[in-house]
Amino acid sequence: MDQVAQVREKTDLVSFISEYVPLKKTGRNFKAPCPFHTEKTPSFVVSPERQIWHCFGCQKGGDCFTFLMEYENLEFPEALRILAKKVGVELSQTPFQSGVSSKKEKIYILNRQAMEFYHYVLTKHAAGKKALEYLSKDRHINPKVLETFMVGFAPANGNALASYLLTKKKHVKEDLIEAGLSFNKTGRIVDFFVNRIIFPLLDHRGNVEGFSGRVMDPKLQPKYVNTRETLVYHKGKVFFGLNMAKDEIKKEERAIIMEGEFDVMSSFQEGVGNAVAVKGTALTEAQVNLIARFCPKVSLCFDTDSAGQEAIVRSLLAIEKKGLLCSVVVCPNAKDPDEAVQKDSFAFKQAVKHSIPVYDFLLEKVLSEVSVKSAEGKKRASDDLLPIFNNIENEVVKEHYLKKLAQEIDTTYESVVKQTQHFAKQAKEDVFIKRAKDARSRKEIIEEYLLSLLLQYKIPQQIVEKIQKDNILFSFSVPSYQKIAEHFFSYTKAHSTIDMQVFLKGLPSELFDSFDRCYLLPLPLFIDDKAHLEEILKIEKELYLVSLRENLKKISDQLKKNEKEETEEFLALQQEFSRLTSLLSDAQK
Ligand code: UTP
Ligand code: MN
Repeated sequence: MDQVAQVREKTDLVSFISEYVPLKKTGRNFKAPCPFHTEKTPSFVVSPERQIWHCFGCQKGGDCFTFLMEYENLEFPEALRILAKKVGVELSQTPFQSGVSSKKEKIYILNRQAMEFYHYVLTKHAAGKKALEYLSKDRHINPKVLETFMVGFAPANGNALASYLLTKKKHVKEDLIEAGLSFNKTGRIVDFFVNRIIFPLLDHRGNVEGFSGRVMDPKLQPKYVNTRETLVYHKGKVFFGLNMAKDEIKKEERAIIMEGEFDVMSSFQEGVGNAVAVKGTALTEAQVNLIARFCPKVSLCFDTDSAGQEAIVRSLLAIEKKGLLCSVVVCPNAKDPDEAVQKDSFAFKQAVKHSIPVYDFLLEKVLSEVSVKSAEGKKRASDDLLPIFNNIENEVVKEHYLKKLAQEIDTTYESVVKQTQHFAKQAKEDVFIKRAKDARSRKEIIEEYLLSLLLQYKIPQQIVEKIQKDNILFSFSVPSYQKIAEHFFSYTKAHSTIDMQVFLKGLPSELFDSFDRCYLLPLPLFIDDKAHLEEILKIEKELYLVSLRENLKKISDQLKKNEKEETEEFLALQQEFSRLTSLLSDAQK
């Protein structure tokens, strides 16, 4: 057995994935909300028998390696190394490197060296003197914090980093360009960041993904620039400070989300160690998914200007969808957390401690802006708040705020509820609706569902007995489904209990993909086996009707095309038509 297979064999997928995702047992499989996309109904399924996972919402799936690669954004060799270590398999040679992987690794190495170079320039070199003074005197950031965040400075001379990396570290130009550290300017290599304070952007594992650079010269624009998109840096997917804050975030079970680098560093300096920065304004869905791995609660602590306040509302949908609790930290008398810390760090820490549940915050804010005595004020308050309250996932919490709003604007709860119905209901995230949108015919979708019902049923012998007794013919038009069903029925007839491993040994391997899909497809929750069995019979009948109707349509089309009546062919078609019609009317009885 090769080492990859050995590691896979030794990894118990269910307990491994449980370390990342709260799995719930449902029937033969385990289910959870998918960690790779935002959803309400769990469509992420793990099969202990097959040792595979699949998400029916985003269609991602695979084994232990692909899960880890996807979850931690790793390349295969790295995932293999981690899992091998975990299960105690010693890898004989250095695992093969794929092209992309070695490129990414090279960028991480370059970025780390660049980070160290910039930090050295800031803290030790004459070229960084002014920046260092600015950071300590004007911004009150102490040396220890500068070191923790590895803040640096990019010299004003246009290629200091490039010449360091090329001559001292013996890298090649192409790699510097690929990392986004330098670029080609009419044949000369030039640094991307010039005369800027540099903040390294690390992922939660400590890889340096990119940088942001803040101007020193206030006349220059823009104030901040970030590394361009590279193989490892993707805007909207990182938090500044996450690597430093993650332990504290886990411990506190809460992350405080701020806008900028200085906000996070100033807070950190004052002992608020669970803050990260989005760098810009609203949280993206990717950022919400990322932070949700570390804590169940977030507190938004954005700037107090209108952009920052709008960002609260814009971040909320993704937060709510992910099921995170959300509150707001209101900076006392300051434009942002950084200023609040500088002005009165005690008051700021109190504000952090006493964050306000986001919906209360929004309610109070709107009520302070409008006069709820007038009809117009009531309308504005409800226009602003109802779309937001309407998106609250938890019905009890939703009702709480709708009632509170009704009270505050002195109207009835009924009117408020009625008004919410004006907002288009968000399309229910239902796997079946989603799958109905795919290119397959209705019949294929029903067939997939029926086969899934059969394969996931606890006591298959009952079905076989029922089939024999009632003479039901399960017939599938999708050839792989038909073959799987045939194997399944002959197996259940020959064995008193079903052992999936044994059954699978007899199944031709080209059927595995279809089998896995049906074996993992999330099913509705049945109260008991009887309800499950009834669903099988109901769907079987539905499929039969769909097939009959399809055939009838085919024949009637042929009959229409056939101009010469009285031919033998025509008569045969007519006979078949009436046979099917009577079958259909029998079946519908
Ligand atoms: P602000 O514009 O509020 O910065 O941007 P600030 O707090 O006044 O700036 P400092 O503290 O003096 O440096 C908040 C954050 O938004 C991102 C940066 O991460 C910044 O810290 N930003 C801002 C950009 O990415 N690009 C910009 O042009 C401006
Ligand atoms: Mn700011």
